Amino acid sequence: MSSRNLFKPITVGKIVPQHRLVMAPLTRFRSPNHVPTDLVAQYYKQRASAPGTLIISEATFITEAAGGYENVPGIYNPAQIAAWGKVAASIHEQNSFFFIQLWSLGRAADKNYLDRLGHKYVAPSAIPNPGVNVKYVQKKQEVEDWNKQHPEDLKPVPEEPVNPVPHALTEEEILAYIDAFVQAAKNAVAAGADGVEIHNANGYLLEQFLSESSNQRTDKWGGSVENRARFTLAVVDAVVAAIGAERTGIRLSPWRSYAQADESSSPLEQWSYVFNELERRGREGKRLAYIHLVEPRADLGSNPHAIYNKSGDNAAFVKLWSGSLIRAGGYKLESALAATDADARLLIGVGRYFISTPDLVARWRLGREPNPYNRSTFYSPGAKGYTDYPFAEELQVAA
Ligand SMILES: Cc1cc2nc3c(=O)[nH]c(=O)nc-3n(C[C@H](O)[C@H](O)[C@H](O)COP(=O)(O)O)c2cc1C
Repeated sequence: MSSRNLFKPITVGKIVPQHRLVMAPLTRFRSPNHVPTDLVAQYYKQRASAPGTLIISEATFITEAAGGYENVPGIYNPAQIAAWGKVAASIHEQNSFFFIQLWSLGRAADKNYLDRLGHKYVAPSAIPNPGVNVKYVQKKQEVEDWNKQHPEDLKPVPEEPVNPVPHALTEEEILAYIDAFVQAAKNAVAAGADGVEIHNANGYLLEQFLSESSNQRTDKWGGSVENRARFTLAVVDAVVAAIGAERTGIRLSPWRSYAQADESSSPLEQWSYVFNELERRGREGKRLAYIHLVEPRADLGSNPHAIYNKSGDNAAFVKLWSGSLIRAGGYKLESALAATDADARLLIGVGRYFISTPDLVARWRLGREPNPYNRSTFYSPGAKGYTDYPFAEELQVAA
């Protein structure tokens, strides 16, 4: 295995991961009051057990107002910064690396929760989300699990809620969001993270600006390819100015089909523009640490509306970027080995198998199978399905 690129070191911005398997960002809903607990630190420490592993945190709210789900961590107050400090330290103790993913939900938020906190439910334009939010997915999963275990006492599966009309952000509010990304990035670095990943994927606020179906603005933040990309690039530039390009990554998912205006409209022009602009900045000395690309075959695990256009192909985008690239979505050992041998600047993001397998890197290095993952504990509270997945040695002892 050691002759394969997957298990060779690679430079990513300022850090040098010792292999090319990256823990992809994974929301787990285990941070009460938006503060990561010691259990969260333990979870990441386990997954950082192979020295030199790049861990990307679960998506983390940049402000309370940018949030809108319970039990998701933030990086906007001192308690959160201190808690992330413990997480970063526990990852660094393993000689591994840590980027924090910065999240703003836009119209994917739970409006009721924002109402309770006194925040606006926002989007680029006053167009309701065609998808369902994670809160509904969670509830539905709970009922389905109950029904599987209690066939004699079936509960009705909750109906999909009708999504409310969001408030279209004013220009002033957009500028405040850019500042909030910057402050969150500074907070992440203050907490000891090696960098941040701007979450510009999967139908959340920044991607809502890129997509014609959700952005029908007529000011300079919409109406053309350049204008729809203005928010993304403004956030990139502001974060880079604050913490440095080599500490900044970005996640993009061009083929998410519901983000398109209609099935026939192609993301090629819009996302190529973003890739070209990021590449131009790279050539001018501001090369981002990486671009993290979600493959069209990826599914988000449990969100029935997170459907990617599976006929899409990222090849056109990959050609436009000459820096470090992470690709994620459906990779297994064989496909990860083949992909990294074919592209020497590539890293592979792994989601679900990193949930189930704390020693995934060590196992794959030996060609061993990962643990199977249990979907029903992806979003449930506590240690079950979180920190209790066994390492290979524990399996051997048990056998
Ligand atoms: C439980 C769960 C939570 C996720 N949370 C996030 C997240 O916070 N941010 C993000 O960008 N992607 C998120 N994703 C997507 C993953 O990062 C990844 O792209 C996806 O799982 C496909 O990779 P896989 O096939 O290796 O699981 C999540 C996926 C799952 C299954």
